[in-house]
Amino acid sequence: MNILVSGSSGLVGSAVMDLLHNKGHTVVGFDQKRSRITDKFTVETGDLCDFPRLVSIVKKYEINAIVHSGGISHPHAGEISPYQTVKTNILGTSTVFEVARLFNINNIVYLSSGAVYGNNSSTVTTLENKAHPENMYAVSKLTGEYLGEVYNRNHGMNVISLRLAFVYGPNRFMPDPIKSILERAVYGVDIHDAKGADQQLEFIYVKDAALAVYKALKVEKCNSSIFNIGTGCNSTINEIAEVVSKIYPKVSIQIGPGDLGYDFIGAFDCSEAQKQLDFKAKYDLKEGIIDYANFLEKNK
Ligand SMILES: NC(=O)c1ccc[n+]([C@@H]2O[C@H](COP(=O)([O-])OP(=O)(O)OC[C@H]3O[C@@H](n4cnc5c(N)ncnc54)[C@H](O)[C@@H]3O)[C@@H](O)[C@H]2O)c1
Repeated sequence: MNILVSGSSGLVGSAVMDLLHNKGHTVVGFDQKRSRITDKFTVETGDLCDFPRLVSIVKKYEINAIVHSGGISHPHAGEISPYQTVKTNILGTSTVFEVARLFNINNIVYLSSGAVYGNNSSTVTTLENKAHPENMYAVSKLTGEYLGEVYNRNHGMNVISLRLAFVYGPNRFMPDPIKSILERAVYGVDIHDAKGADQQLEFIYVKDAALAVYKALKVEKCNSSIFNIGTGCNSTINEIAEVVSKIYPKVSIQIGPGDLGYDFIGAFDCSEAQKQLDFKAKYDLKEGIIDYANFLEKNK
């Protein structure tokens, strides 16, 4: 397949480029910025809302599948730049889907987010849980899913939306508690943070997020088009600190109580992804953090 990966310079997009290339596909990146990580690949620069630019790239490379990973990717960023978030994530997504429709590209994986669920009191978040987006970012991600559903229903496309848990790993640029703790530990810097220990989030290692994308691209036919993608476990920042402490026992880690302002979302039920996409996360929290730490050590 000739696969266009939007957001190819970002955390998930760059891991997707690597994995799809290793699986023998031709990958073409698309991002508003270039990145050292994806320099080995063909990457075209441009804006997601630039319709003619996307048309020319899709034509030039005879694209027949798209991974739409580009956009503004953090609930807090959505509040700092609400208009930009709506424009990039909603208009940008509809531009990608519309170009796909015009060129009969039916195979599309759209990266949505668990943020669409909003704060909830469920211990387990299933696909039956009502989406209740509580910030601009979450609204924009849910709107992308709705657009995908309409293109599927009315235009025979096959947009699969993956509601990712919080993604961590090499090449993350956005704020992330794991990155924040691990990057200091790798350099032997003691960590004394005033708050955050009680924040619970479901984390997924970036290699698993990329694997889910690969599985979704491969699936011939599935009964639904929206999936939860995570490990099925929430972790507190305190638990992350304990894992990092075991790897770096000389670093003192003290994190005060309280949260970091993220929604509480019960751990994902990912059984549909397992059943229909044959996806199951390979890395638990400890394995993912060790792999990430190894990357940071090598790239110090
Ligand atoms: N990282 C997470 O924790 C997480 C969780 C759930 C869902 N997601 C979703 O996964 C996708 C990828 O997230 P990520 O963490 O890799 O994000 P990222 O910020 O690392 O990468 C996004 C990329 O999109 C590019 N981009 C932004 N606006 C653009 C525009 N107008 N035109 C062209 N390119 C543009 C950026 O330059 C960046 O390289 C996003 O859609 C995000 O909403 C991420």
